[in-house]
Amino acid sequence: MTNEAINIVIMAAGLGTRMRSSKAKVLHSAGGLTMAELIVRQSLKITTPERIRVITGHQSAEVEQVLTPYGVRFALQAEQKGTGHAVLCTQQFLEKEPGILLIINGDCPLLRSETLLSLLETADRPDVAGAILTTVLDDASGYGRIVRSPEDTLLAIVEEKAATADQKQIREINTGIYAFRAETFWPALAQVTPDNPAKEYYLTDVVGILHREGHTLLPSLVRDPREVLGVNNRLELSVADRILRERKVQALMLDGVTIEKPETVTIDDDVQVAPDTVIEAFAQLRGNCEIATGCRIGAGSILRNVRLAEKVQVQPYSIVEDTQAGEAAQIGPFARLRGGNTLGAKVRVGNFVEIKKSTLSEGAKANHLAYLGDAQVGSRTNVGAGAITCNYDGFHKHATIIGEDVFVGSNSTLVAPIQIGPGSIIAAGSVMTHTVPENSLAFGRAHQVIKEGGAEIVRHKAKTRDTTKHS
Ligand code: UD1
Ligand code: CA
Repeated sequence: MTNEAINIVIMAAGLGTRMRSSKAKVLHSAGGLTMAELIVRQSLKITTPERIRVITGHQSAEVEQVLTPYGVRFALQAEQKGTGHAVLCTQQFLEKEPGILLIINGDCPLLRSETLLSLLETADRPDVAGAILTTVLDDASGYGRIVRSPEDTLLAIVEEKAATADQKQIREINTGIYAFRAETFWPALAQVTPDNPAKEYYLTDVVGILHREGHTLLPSLVRDPREVLGVNNRLELSVADRILRERKVQALMLDGVTIEKPETVTIDDDVQVAPDTVIEAFAQLRGNCEIATGCRIGAGSILRNVRLAEKVQVQPYSIVEDTQAGEAAQIGPFARLRGGNTLGAKVRVGNFVEIKKSTLSEGAKANHLAYLGDAQVGSRTNVGAGAITCNYDGFHKHATIIGEDVFVGSNSTLVAPIQIGPGSIIAAGSVMTHTVPENSLAFGRAHQVIKEGGAEIVRHKAKTRDTTKHS
């Protein structure tokens, strides 16, 4: 790579009318990240954050909020008067910076840093004023066309609206990604006028201006146009999303993860999966997930911000959010872990169990139809089918603390705040409202009453009632 300083400008001020959205275009996501973040992440592989300047306009506050964690800088383009005007808004910060100015359209979510590096290589010649990333399309309509000289230098970029019939035949297009030598670029940009049908300041006019002043600009052709295509509408966004998803699953598979029917799974960029984990069809892994080796993520499961230790099994159709699970824990099928949960090693959470802000220690079990909210469950404790914590009294949330080796009988109702001492047994169907001391047997239900022969009496009564009714 060049030894010269590289400053990057990312154009992200436009609304993106063709998205038909109230949200600025660069805030739309592909592959689980906003387009703005995707470009910034690639840019950070080229230069340091303080040398990256993002031009914001539409919803600048929201765009800045998304990008601030990356440490990049901003420039405001209050009114969108075209791409040339956008770059002018960074002039006060960058005019005195020598070296190369890399300018990137904010709507290229598939762009990779490798491609930026090849553009920089083309531009890295002292006799050249810059280089522009181009590609060839079957249908170039809508794009700026590349006008080459017989020597294959650039003469001009002609925008669709200003192109002659002959120029419209050109299939080589401007991708909107440029590397300019800074000292010749700024004076040329100052000469751009809104003298065109759209009354916009076109950044692309700089090419003709530099050529007329005797400078050389080179094209840097990208063979696969898919990487550099701008996203202008939601159809193109879905294509970009699919390609980013494909890249992610391919990388994971090559790293040793088994993915069944990879075209059906959705895995966000920040998800890490260790080798020998199996991901079944239609699974979704969103946000920041860390999945250790030997796990299995069942079909149709949705995981978000989840940390799984080795050999965790998530059975099909489970929804797990903001949760960490210890080695060999088993979750699902059809479990719902809503967030803030810590499951110890070998914990088992079965079907139709809902858990929120709870800790289950090693070997604890809730195998069927239970609700645990704001609860601590001790090691090896068994929570029976249909048992629930009443953690909410209509006004406040309260904690349920259950010790080790407790047996919570089926259909028990634990009214929080409450503590169940270690080793105790709660009889099935009990309503518990008071502390249960260690090793006790606790009942909280009506006594069973038996009337021998009573069934016959009931049947007889029912029969005589029926005959009277029908006579
Ligand atoms: C632009 C190029 C065109 C190229 C195409 C590639 C110009 C004049 N044309 O056209 O040659 O083929 O990209 O996709 O540059 N933006 C601002 N402020 C503005 C206007 C735009 O920040 O005032 C930003 C947009 O948010 C977007 C980028 O610049 O990220 C490109 O703008 P867009 O309107 O999409 O340009 P195109 O018409 O696609
Ligand atoms: Ca565009």
